[in-house]
Amino acid sequence: MEKEGLPRSSVLNELESRLVEDFTYDSGRIIGSMCTCPHPLASKVYTRFLDRNLGDSGLFPALVKLEKETVHMLGTLLSNPKASGHIVTGGTEANTLALWAAKKLSEKKCCNVVVPASAHYSFDRAADLLGLKIVRVKLNSRFQVDVEAVKKAVNPNTIAIVGVAGTTGLGVVDPIRGLSKIATEENLYLHVDAAFGGFVLPFLKELGFDVPDFDFSLPGVCSITIDPHKMGLAPIPAGGILFRNEKLRKAVAWNVSYLAGGETEQATFVGTRSGASVVAVWALLKHLGKESYRRIVRSCMSLTLKLAGEIRKIDGLDIVAEPTMNIVGIKSGVFDIGRIAEKLRLRKWAVSLFPSHIRIVVMPHVKKQHIEEFLEDLKGIVKEIGG
Ligand SMILES: Cc1ncc(COP(=O)(O)O)c(C=O)c1O
Repeated sequence: MEKEGLPRSSVLNELESRLVEDFTYDSGRIIGSMCTCPHPLASKVYTRFLDRNLGDSGLFPALVKLEKETVHMLGTLLSNPKASGHIVTGGTEANTLALWAAKKLSEKKCCNVVVPASAHYSFDRAADLLGLKIVRVKLNSRFQVDVEAVKKAVNPNTIAIVGVAGTTGLGVVDPIRGLSKIATEENLYLHVDAAFGGFVLPFLKELGFDVPDFDFSLPGVCSITIDPHKMGLAPIPAGGILFRNEKLRKAVAWNVSYLAGGETEQATFVGTRSGASVVAVWALLKHLGKESYRRIVRSCMSLTLKLAGEIRKIDGLDIVAEPTMNIVGIKSGVFDIGRIAEKLRLRKWAVSLFPSHIRIVVMPHVKKQHIEEFLEDLKGIVKEIGG
């Protein structure tokens, strides 16, 4: 640290020049991330209410009401206006809270959680933290969890099962109806990770796409992760954890008595927590409404389908599966996919690499022109490698 502080202008100038080498969303080069430029209204209200701390909720009762309204709007989107929950730091925290609730609600001593092979690594971390064992179950030929295999994996020590509505790698939706049936029959907690899909699937359904049920309309679903900082266009951090009812949320609630606002209840992982995130999500849901989200999803999906079609035409490349949402997996039976990813990165494309495919996420900042430029580079690389 400097002995004496630098003038504001030199700090700002240094920041501008130091951070210039980082990727930016508006360049269109970030095509492998689930994050995007926050909506301008969200950025505005976020900075306006930056000081609000929901960890000391007694000081901010109006903000508490705003969070409840936000959760109510998200719950309604997911077929349960009575859902209870919080805006948290992201999908990792939301998934961890769900497993924590499942553990606290269960009377079993030595427990496991059955998850799809495709589940996000946050479940492994959560399990490590909570002393749970993760049992990963194989996928079917459509990259969804194999429901029969889940049934077989459940044993007397199982406390919960997890389904994913929008897998990290391919955006696939697991057969949540089948999982809901197992959860109901076996009296197990079912968590649905719709961190990405939560802001996509309801709108795809309205657009006439064939979207399977995945939300609280299925009786076994106890909680859902839905992240506004992914397809919800909210500034980071904004994840969402929704429980079917208040009793489930209460399982992880803690009473704290020493704070300036008086006694309060904390039911997330952090103490001090961002009220600005809540304000931003509330403002977006109010301002964009279903119609704008639908328009955004329609445009991302239409570009995704075009991209998938063009990839199929490139000799030596193929897509892993027909896109369910705005995620495309690129594979090759001929070339080393890791080498292609490396060459794309050298050409400054921020792609995401999985063991046997490259993941492209067509977020709202990715435009037609970016996809065209990407395809040109991809074809060039294939030619280069193919000789
Ligand atoms: C399905 C799914 N769940 C959870 C997460 C974790 O979200 P976060 O990075 O916001 O913690 C991700 C991240 O990509 C995800 O794809």
